[in-house]
Amino acid sequence: MEKPLLQVKNIWKAYDELQVLKGVSFDVEEGEVKVIFGPSGSGKSTLLRCINMLTPPDKGTVILQGTNLMDSDTNLNMIRSKIGMVFQHFNLFLHLKAIDNVSLGPRRVLGLSKDEATERALDALIQVKMEKWADHYPAQLSGGQQQRVGIARALVMNPVLILFDEPTSALDPELIGEVLQVMLDIAKSGTTMVVVTHEMGFARAVATEMIFIDEGVIVEKGTPRHFAISPETERAKQFLHRLEVLYGHHEELLEPEDKEEGNS
Ligand SMILES: Nc1ncnc2c1ncn2[C@@H]1O[C@H](COP(=O)(O)OP(=O)(O)O)[C@@H](O)[C@H]1O
Ligand SMILES: [Mg+2]
Repeated sequence: MEKPLLQVKNIWKAYDELQVLKGVSFDVEEGEVKVIFGPSGSGKSTLLRCINMLTPPDKGTVILQGTNLMDSDTNLNMIRSKIGMVFQHFNLFLHLKAIDNVSLGPRRVLGLSKDEATERALDALIQVKMEKWADHYPAQLSGGQQQRVGIARALVMNPVLILFDEPTSALDPELIGEVLQVMLDIAKSGTTMVVVTHEMGFARAVATEMIFIDEGVIVEKGTPRHFAISPETERAKQFLHRLEVLYGHHEELLEPEDKEEGNS
C-alpha cells in the first residue's frame, strides 16, 4: 500500500504552562476527507496550525508526502504552498478585490505573471461560483461569498491538502449552505481535506473518518455512522448530544432507520 499523504505523529504543543496538544497522531490518505470535531478550546485550531507549521509543535513529527516538516532543512514556504488553509474569519485582504485576493498567492509564491495569475484566479473563482464577483471588495460581499473567495484562494495554489478551520461557524445560518455545497464539490473532486467542523450533515455526506478531540487528545475515532449510532466514550456522547441540541434544526446525520437503532 502507498504511504499516507499526511502523517501526524505524537504532536505536543503548549502555550507557556497551558498544555494544548498532548500526543495527537493520525494519518490522512490521499483523497480522504477527515473531519475533526470537539469542544471549544480543545486544541483543534492549534492542531491545524501545527500541520502547516504556522505553529511548530514542541514535539512530534508531521510528514507530508514523505517530507518531515520538522526537519530544519525543510523549505517551509514550499510546503505551505502545497497546503491550503481556510479560516473561520476568512482572513481576506480588505483593500484587495476578490480576484486580487485569489491571484496574490500565484504571483507572490509561484512567481506567475499578473496575467497568468489572474487567469488562474478566475478559474478558482469559477469553482466556487464567485466569478461574477471578481471585481468586488470583501466589504461588498456577504460572509458566505467572502468565505467562497477564501476557499478559491486555497484552491488556486493547486494544493495537495486543504485544511479548513470551522469555515462556516462565523456565518449566519442562511449562508452556511452555499459554503458547504462548495466544500462538498471539492471533496467529491477527490481533494484531500482535513476539516474542523460541527456540521454533521457535511460529515455524513463526505467524511471518510471523524476524529473527536477533547482537551488535546484524540478521544474517539470512527465513521460518521459510528458517531451517529454508537459513540463509545461518555465524552463523545455528551458532546454529540450538545451539538444536536444546538444544531438540531439542520441535523441530517441520522437516517430514520438509524435513529430507531440508536434509540433501542
Ligand atoms: N497563541 C496562543 N497563545 C496562548 N494560548 C493560546 C494561543 N492559541 C490558542 N491558545 C489556547 O489554547 C487552547 C486551545 O486553543 P485552540 O487550538 O484555538 O482550540 P479550538 O480551536 O479547539 O477552540 C485554548 O485554551 C486557547 O485559549
Ligand atoms: Mg478553533
